[in-house]
Amino acid sequence: MSVDYEIRRFEPAAKDDPAYPQSVAWMRAVAFGFHDARRTDERVDTSIELQRTDRRVMTGVYQTGTVAGHSLGADVPVATFGTMNKTLNIGFGRLLDTRLVTAVTVRTSHRRRGLLRRMMGEDLALAREEGLAMAALTASEASIYGRFGFGVATSEQAVKVDTTARFRLNHLPLGSVEVADPKVLLELAPDVFDRVHRSTPGSIGRHEFYRQFASGSVSRDGGEDPKVKVALHYGPGGDVDGYVSYRFAGWSSTPYTMEVVDLVAATGAAYLELWQYLGAIDLVERITWEEAPVDDPLRWALEDARCVESSAARDMLWLRILDVRQALEARHYPADGQLVLKVADSLGLTGGTFAVEVDGGTAAVTAVGSGAPGIRTPDLRTPDLELDVAALSAMYLGGVNPVTLAASGRIVEHAPGAAFRAARMFAVERTPHCLTHF
Ligand SMILES: CC(C)(COP(=O)(O)OP(=O)(O)OC[C@H]1O[C@@H](n2cnc3c(N)ncnc32)[C@H](O)[C@@H]1OP(=O)(O)O)[C@@H](O)C(=O)NCCC(=O)NCCS
Repeated sequence: MSVDYEIRRFEPAAKDDPAYPQSVAWMRAVAFGFHDARRTDERVDTSIELQRTDRRVMTGVYQTGTVAGHSLGADVPVATFGTMNKTLNIGFGRLLDTRLVTAVTVRTSHRRRGLLRRMMGEDLALAREEGLAMAALTASEASIYGRFGFGVATSEQAVKVDTTARFRLNHLPLGSVEVADPKVLLELAPDVFDRVHRSTPGSIGRHEFYRQFASGSVSRDGGEDPKVKVALHYGPGGDVDGYVSYRFAGWSSTPYTMEVVDLVAATGAAYLELWQYLGAIDLVERITWEEAPVDDPLRWALEDARCVESSAARDMLWLRILDVRQALEARHYPADGQLVLKVADSLGLTGGTFAVEVDGGTAAVTAVGSGAPGIRTPDLRTPDLELDVAALSAMYLGGVNPVTLAASGRIVEHAPGAAFRAARMFAVERTPHCLTHF
């Protein structure tokens, strides 16, 4: 049976709006796509309310012709695609408005007909028209998004930390830690996170879900999570500059384990002191954290670094430059230099050859031979580096060394030493890490 489709884009409706059922059907389709149990009406209402707070846009693909008898109706989208705009820390405290892509699903009976390609292509073009230079997502599978120009810009790892007598941190506390009612995070979490966001390359501004999640008001499975406990860190001046939200894995966990739900620390001292607190919890011998940084100061602060058992690094934030000139000019560069980059873009959004001249940490980026009035047109030169927009997006935050990308064949280095020059220019002040899953 041949099927025709139409794409609809809409904002989540308020409960008393006649368009509300469209938002409900979309939310249910997303849950179905991720194999979730059927959600209660109350849970769907809560999710839609969160989406409204984040000013998300829901995109759905709908069947326009006859729908198979007894199957889900034409009002239920066969594909979903969610978006919202947040800021991305691009190093040295600079924030760049970014399109976040989420809730990507295609119903199995309609897959591999180009629906994802259509939704992605249209939305990235739309984001660029809106003036955004960057898009971001997190991926369920690593094989899907490279073809659309996304590259892995940050990684994370799961850790299991042995907190028996071996756990000793070489750190003299500067502040203090105290237990609080988890609900205080509804008020405190956004401010603490904002400080982290402004000082962490790779950080994505958080959506409403997080303060609810960290405070145990909402769990990933819906409803309250009464197991969540919270400790706050107070800096030397008495201000709250960090928190950890955690839950006990139960008396059947071996060894007895505490799971970190969210750990946000605005200073190095707050981070170590929250770990000192976790390490001191009686009756517990292990702390686990699914979203630890790959470059973790904890390991270096421990007397016995082998207390930390980590998984392999996993891709976390995928970036996609939508406008090379705008994205490169937005950054600060710790090293001056010049590079000519030939960038391929199969979606045709921002490919071309660009001369990047960094002086005093600021880049002037020119499309080579563009001849546009008021723009300097450099000599047509052989590019120093030739690469796909996915590779440029991956190295944009310094999370992968361009020398490594050249060795992997993802970058062709025409001028010897250019990849190393790019490595110095694109470095950021600390290893990028993203604490926000979306
Ligand atoms: C992943 C998913 C959205 C793909 O949707 P789709 O409509 O079948 O994709 P399209 O038909 O537009 O295919 C686009 C391209 O991606 C490829 N592709 C799609 N899914 C892929 C996968 N899981 N692994 C590898 N390649 C994939 C297709 O082969 C096609 O390649 P081409 O255009 O280069 O020939 C869909 O399979 C799905 O809903 N999966 C379950 C939920 C999920 O994983 N969502 C992603 C959340 S981050």
